[in-house]
Amino acid sequence: MHSSKLIWLIYFIFVLTACRGNFVKPKPATNVNEPQQIHIGFGQRLTDIIILWSTRNNDSSVAEYYTGNTNAKAIKGETIHFEGNPLGCQYLHRVYIANLTPGKKYFYKVFGQNSDFTSSQYSFTIPDVNKPLTYMIYGDLGLLSANLQFLQHEVILDPQKYSAIFHIGDIAYDLGSDGGKRGDKFLNAIQPMAAHVPYMTIPGDHELFPGSKDHYRFRFSTPNAGWPMPMYQLWYSLDAGLIHFVCISTEVFFLDKDNIDRQMKWLEEDLAAVNEDRSKHPWIIVLGHRPMYCSVNDDSEDCRQFDSVIRNRLEDVFYKNGVDLFISGHQHLYERTYPVYKNKVLAFNNRNPRATIHLIVGSLGNQYLTEFSSKPGGPWSANVVSAMEMEIYGKVKAFNDTHLFWTANKAMDNGVVDKAWIIQNQHGPFDQAIIPDPLGAAGKQWRKHNQEDDNTFINLNFFYVDKDDYNTRVTVLMFTFIFLIFGVCFRKKILNSFRYCCINHDKCKNGQLIPM
Ligand SMILES: *[C@@H]1O[C@H](CO)[C@@H](O)[C@H](O)[C@H]1NC(C)=O
Ligand SMILES: *[C@@H]1O[C@H](CO)[C@@H](O)[C@H](O)[C@H]1NC(C)=O
Repeated sequence: MHSSKLIWLIYFIFVLTACRGNFVKPKPATNVNEPQQIHIGFGQRLTDIIILWSTRNNDSSVAEYYTGNTNAKAIKGETIHFEGNPLGCQYLHRVYIANLTPGKKYFYKVFGQNSDFTSSQYSFTIPDVNKPLTYMIYGDLGLLSANLQFLQHEVILDPQKYSAIFHIGDIAYDLGSDGGKRGDKFLNAIQPMAAHVPYMTIPGDHELFPGSKDHYRFRFSTPNAGWPMPMYQLWYSLDAGLIHFVCISTEVFFLDKDNIDRQMKWLEEDLAAVNEDRSKHPWIIVLGHRPMYCSVNDDSEDCRQFDSVIRNRLEDVFYKNGVDLFISGHQHLYERTYPVYKNKVLAFNNRNPRATIHLIVGSLGNQYLTEFSSKPGGPWSANVVSAMEMEIYGKVKAFNDTHLFWTANKAMDNGVVDKAWIIQNQHGPFDQAIIPDPLGAAGKQWRKHNQEDDNTFINLNFFYVDKDDYNTRVTVLMFTFIFLIFGVCFRKKILNSFRYCCINHDKCKNGQLIPM
């Protein structure tokens, strides 16, 4: 009896002690300023990092970063009270850290000065552009996607594997839904990867809907614009070593028409500037939400139209500036084209393409709205994959100035769905006919690749040997040609001489010269 009462007493004291902290200082009170939705992006250069996060209460914005054994540096940023988010976190924070060192790994924490709550520690690595870098690219990802956790896993396993993630429009479905709670949930869901790897975005149609427009401008930040991003600058470009990324808003042609001219002017200037010296950034990759070519069954889509709005506006600009790849989403499937211009396939291979190759990586939104393709939209369609379980992300890696590797992976198991080498020895505008000097270095490379390729339509390799051999063959051919002409012109005389010989021969001793 006594001992059981004692046990109860001890138990009671234990429960009181254990709960004391909670009764005295309830946890939620400290939670309101806990930084959440932490994500990073590049600033104007790959050596600049922008950190964004949210809190429930008003607080200042501080990021503390450090590397290895150096002392931590604290940088103060801006806080914005975003009232367009009535049910979500309304205090948005942004810190810009400039001039970091390429190849170096940095650790960071974020916090506000009004609270003693500091975030966990995160890290990022500044890309070293002297090495081949890999980028993850996809569009149309929301909380309804079945495979978000697989993407997370792929990135978190080795955060240095990807130098950036490009989410090319249609984010969260939609950022502003449920009074902003959808956007909060989505940003918390991607935080495990987006806090470590720069999460670069462009707007899709869903970011231009009235209820989400401001959410996009406030919750993200782009390299070239202030914060919140102004409507007239939802586009940017980024020099990433071998690749020059151009991130455009295709919505200017649909939901944001006031900004067509502004973006077109910027785009043409940006592309012209890269073309002044393509050796600095040989590969140009344009990212935009809506595609120009697609094989979806739905005939009402712009990319299915003969007179596609986006093709009319952009195709010539891409062609004149030698844009290597145009990657988009919007259609919830995966597709890759051959080099295509004005609906015509320029080659059924990717060796020295003379037009842009198009890719659609929009299948992560499959759960949201599956789009099917039962037949290719044109002969330009090299590969199209569409099915409910096929949620696909893309990977691009530039090995050097001539070799770029593209893969499309199934998010669920990383299975390779499609891959392609794109080989370009003559970067530059496509409208300038380039006939490589067969004896020059570029010519040599060119014919080497053509020799390797089964799909080559004209086999000129006979001529493309080394210099001396080349001259010999040309000489032999020239003489053969002269001999033939000679033969045709003097055929009568030749024939007669043959007959003359014949007469003197035993078999026709009694014969006579046959008159011609
Ligand atoms: C947030 O706090 C700052 C600094 O204390 C203050 O200047 C600002 O007005 C506050 N914002 C709101 C919306 O209360
Ligand atoms: C470029 O990279 C490819 C793929 O790794 C390689 O085969 C090729 O030899 C490289 N070219 C040069 C010039 O280094």
